[in-house]
Amino acid sequence: MEKEGAVLIGETSLQRKSDVIVIGAGAAGMMAAIRAGKRGRSVVVLDHARAPGEKIRISGGGRCNFTNIHAGPKNFLSANPHFCKSALARFTPADFIAMVDRHGIAWHEKTLGQLFCDDSAKDVIRMLLTEMREAGAQLHLGTEITAVEKVEAGFRVSTGDDAFEASALVVATGGKSIPKMGATGFAYRLAEQFGLPVLETRPGLVPLTLDPGLLEAIAPLAGISAPAEIRHGRTAFREALLFTHRGLSGPAILQISSYWREGDEIVVSIEPDIDIGAHLKTAKQLNGRQSPQTALGDILPKRLAQFLVEREKIAGNMADLPDKALLRLAAAAQSFTVKPSGSEGYRTAEVTLGGIDTAALDSRSMEAKAVPGLYFIGECVDVTGWLGGYNFQWAWASGFAAGEYA
Ligand code: FDA
Repeated sequence: MEKEGAVLIGETSLQRKSDVIVIGAGAAGMMAAIRAGKRGRSVVVLDHARAPGEKIRISGGGRCNFTNIHAGPKNFLSANPHFCKSALARFTPADFIAMVDRHGIAWHEKTLGQLFCDDSAKDVIRMLLTEMREAGAQLHLGTEITAVEKVEAGFRVSTGDDAFEASALVVATGGKSIPKMGATGFAYRLAEQFGLPVLETRPGLVPLTLDPGLLEAIAPLAGISAPAEIRHGRTAFREALLFTHRGLSGPAILQISSYWREGDEIVVSIEPDIDIGAHLKTAKQLNGRQSPQTALGDILPKRLAQFLVEREKIAGNMADLPDKALLRLAAAAQSFTVKPSGSEGYRTAEVTLGGIDTAALDSRSMEAKAVPGLYFIGECVDVTGWLGGYNFQWAWASGFAAGEYA
C-alpha cells in the first residue's frame, strides 16, 4: 500500500493505466472519483498535498457547512448563470444529505438552510474516502504533476519519475484561494495549454479593506458585530457585519465582496429591521433627559452608538435635539456609503471568482467541448457560490456530473 512520496488507497498495486485520472483530491475530485468508480470505471486520483480534502477539514470552523438546503442557480455567480442548472438539478442537497445519513454522520441546520456536521468536518473526509475505497479508486498523495499531454489513448500525466495514462482526465485542482494551503492556479494553466478560455479570476467571499483615514476613524469599532444589510447596486445581503482592524468583515461583507469591484461603493444599513429614526423620536418623547448615545445604545452596540453620535457632532440631551438631527443620526447608521480600498485578497478569500469559461464546457458533463475526454469541475470553473454551503454543493454536483460521463 505504500509508495515513496505517495499514499495509496484502493488497489494494492500501482496502477499506471486507468480509465480516468482525477487531478485534485478535494471535494469535487473525490466526488467525481466516487461516481466514476461506482460506474465501473478504473480511477486514479493524484494530489500534491499530503492529505486529501484539506479545505473540507478547515471549512465551517472545523464543522464543514457541507451544503445548503436552499441551493439553486440563483445562489451562484457566473458569466453564464444558466450553466450550473443541469449539474445542480442532477445532484441535489438531498442527494448529499442521503450520503451523509448513510454514513451515520450527525448534522444540524445552523441558519439560513446551512447544514453543518455536529461533530467534525473530518467525518465528511472519512466518508468520501470510504466511498472512494468502495468505488475502487486509487489515491496518490504527495504527487507533483510535472506535465500533462494528449496522447493517442487519451492523456498522459507525468509525475517526475512516473507517468499515468487514462482515456479521461478530470481536473479538480480548485482555485487560487489560500495559497498557504497549496492552491496553485494549476487548472487555469492547464486549460490554457489546451486552448480553453479562462475568465479573469479574483478573490471572493473575502473581507474588504479601508483606506488609512477611514480605518483610523473606525478603529474604536474593531471587534463590534451587528446585524446589517449591505447593498451593492441591486444586490443586498442581510447578515452580520463585523468591524475589524483591517476594515469590514462578517458574513454580510463576505457575501457582497463577490459582487464588489475595485472602485465601487457599498451601502451599509445597521439593524435594517428596526426604524431607528422612529425609535429615536419615541425615545425623545418618553425620556427627553437621556443622551442620544443612551437612546441609540438601546438598539446598537454602545461603542457604535457613541461613535455615530460623535461622528455626526450631535450634542445635548434628546429633548434639545430637533427631529432633523435624530433622522440624521438614524441615516448615519442606516444608509452610509463606504468605498472600500480593496480586499484582503487570496490570502483569506474563501473562493476564487472567474476561472474556466463555462462557454468551453458541456453543462451536463463538464467536458471541454473542444477536447473530448478532458473535464473541469469545482472551484476552478467560473461558477462561484454564496457563503453558506453553496460552494461545496457546486463541488459535489459538478464532480458527480463529470463522474457520470468520464
Ligand atoms: P479544493 O480546493 O477543495 O481541492 C483542490 C485539490 O487539488 C486540493 O486537494 C489540492 O491539494 C489539489 N491541487 C491543487 N493544485 C494541485 C496541483 N498543481 N497538483 C496536484 N494537486 C493539486 N464552502 C462551503 O460550501 N462551505 C464551507 O463551510 C466552506 N468553508 C470554507 C472555509 C475556508 C477557510 C475556505 C478557504 C473555503 C471554504 N469553502 C466552503 C469553500 C470550499 O472549500 C471550496 O469551494 C471547495 O473546497 C472547492 O472544492 P474543489 O474540489 O474545487 O477544490
